[in-house]
Amino acid sequence: MQVDRYERYWLWAATGMLVLFTGAIVITALAGSAHPPSHVETVNPETLDISGEFATPGVATAADGSVTVVMRAEFYVFRPEVVRVPLGRAVTFRITSPDVLHGFQIVGTNVNVTVAPGYVSEVTTTFTEPGEYLVVCNEYCGLAHHNMQGTLIVEAEP
Ligand code: CUA
Repeated sequence: MQVDRYERYWLWAATGMLVLFTGAIVITALAGSAHPPSHVETVNPETLDISGEFATPGVATAADGSVTVVMRAEFYVFRPEVVRVPLGRAVTFRITSPDVLHGFQIVGTNVNVTVAPGYVSEVTTTFTEPGEYLVVCNEYCGLAHHNMQGTLIVEAEP
């Protein structure tokens, strides 16, 4: 079969890029123990409101100053509905669902995780802009999905 020389060059170039990119994914995944932000830690969705950290969702500050926000995403609300976190400090969100798949997206930031029942989704970020942020569910979860919103307030510390 006759393949034009330039076409052959492009075929090799495209194949080379595929090998390069696939290799980069494999190497960084192995070297950095990379994994998706969710679906690593499991939790029993049936006992969320009875025991454990998700029974009392809210914001906690550790002795070292790090902030953890424990949240539940459920039919059709985030608990707590209003979250206040400090500006310029690492904030870790730990979220799970007692019912169906939900989303947790802080509009205007790159925080965007899927929240699946039975799993804890964890994401850490540092807010650099104070203000009020809209939190939305971006996975269709039922008839009132469009009403599932929360508020995140990032406050500068005195
Ligand atoms: Cu929860 Cu859509």
